[in-house]
Amino acid sequence: MYDFDKVIDRRNTGSLKWDVKEGELPMWVADMDFECAPAIKKALSDRVDHGIFGYTDTCDEWREAYVNFWNRRHGFSMDGRRLLFCQGIVPAVASVIRCLTEKGDGVILMSPVYNIFFNLIKQNDRIVSESPLRYDSAEFTYSIDFKDLEERLKDPNNKLLILCNPQNPVGKIWSKEELETIGNLASSNGVTVLSDEIHCDITRPSKSYIPFASVNDINLKNSVTCISPTKAFNIAGVQSSAVYVYDDEMRGRIADSLNIENINEPNVFAVPAAVAAFNSSEDWLDNMREYVFKNRSCAENFIKNRIPLLSAVEGDATYLMWIDIRKTKMSSKRFTAFLRANTGLFISMGAVYGKEADFFVRINLACPFETLKDGLQRLKKACDMIGDK
Ligand SMILES: Cc1ncc(COP(=O)(O)O)c(C=O)c1O
Repeated sequence: MYDFDKVIDRRNTGSLKWDVKEGELPMWVADMDFECAPAIKKALSDRVDHGIFGYTDTCDEWREAYVNFWNRRHGFSMDGRRLLFCQGIVPAVASVIRCLTEKGDGVILMSPVYNIFFNLIKQNDRIVSESPLRYDSAEFTYSIDFKDLEERLKDPNNKLLILCNPQNPVGKIWSKEELETIGNLASSNGVTVLSDEIHCDITRPSKSYIPFASVNDINLKNSVTCISPTKAFNIAGVQSSAVYVYDDEMRGRIADSLNIENINEPNVFAVPAAVAAFNSSEDWLDNMREYVFKNRSCAENFIKNRIPLLSAVEGDATYLMWIDIRKTKMSSKRFTAFLRANTGLFISMGAVYGKEADFFVRINLACPFETLKDGLQRLKKACDMIGDK
């Protein structure tokens, strides 16, 4: 019904990902090479057909779409009146950092984690307090170093913890116990938790994530949750997201902050796209997850059997695969530059995701199977060249 095998030429469409040289293959930034769900295309073309593109506002339908979707899929009952619109999760996170912390305050990250968080903290003259996840290099899995995290939460200079739930780039779904422990430690030390849940709907079929705020009252009252349809439904360019803040006082401050920064008004496509995604595109979403996780097992098997220098890290969420390149004895910067120069494959270097991430790279698997095969062959070619040296 949905043709995820179809290769669509994205060159010359203003695509950030595909702004590469002829013959190069981009598998870096997190968007998918799939056409979006039919209901979203229809909602957007209906909006175009209307022909008037004036100032736009959110509406009850927008709130209900979020509330019903989270109820249905994630068993979390949000109060729609507590949702704030924002033009994207990156601007929302930046605004929340400015709103809830002062210059010089510390913001905790559990790394490796989405590189832009580091930039947002530093660009706003706050201090990154980095708590590396513990890597098991025999099992290729990550876990939280709670001792280190607790110490950081106890440091009175640290005011905010940014949690990536599930975690980009390691593809980890946090358990209820982990979220409970994080929530208790944060709350008892006066640290607010910002939970970025943008990847929450891209989970291995049969697995689902747990919204941080849904775990208990402590988490609910001490958190800001950033959610959006853009990642799971491949509509990042539409720029549409929401910030859920239960606590009235904190929500008031954040609403003011989003307003002052002029990032709380939707463009004309942001609301219809979100409504069509949440109300009418679940079947597409489930089919996409099946396809992406088939790609993932294919990539895992290929690496295991054909590329002895690499090891795939286990992951149950996101369409991003985190790969251990330790055996190449190259830094991620050198490895990705070598890969691009010799095969044209463009993937992300691990170094930008944290201080212990330099022996890793990230590859985006959300593409037609033909494209994936091409990417894996290029990866093998580069590693064969490195192995022959
Ligand atoms: C964890 C995380 N947050 C936010 C974003 C981007 O959000 P937005 O496009 O809504 O600004 C990404 C994109 O990859 C991401 O991985």
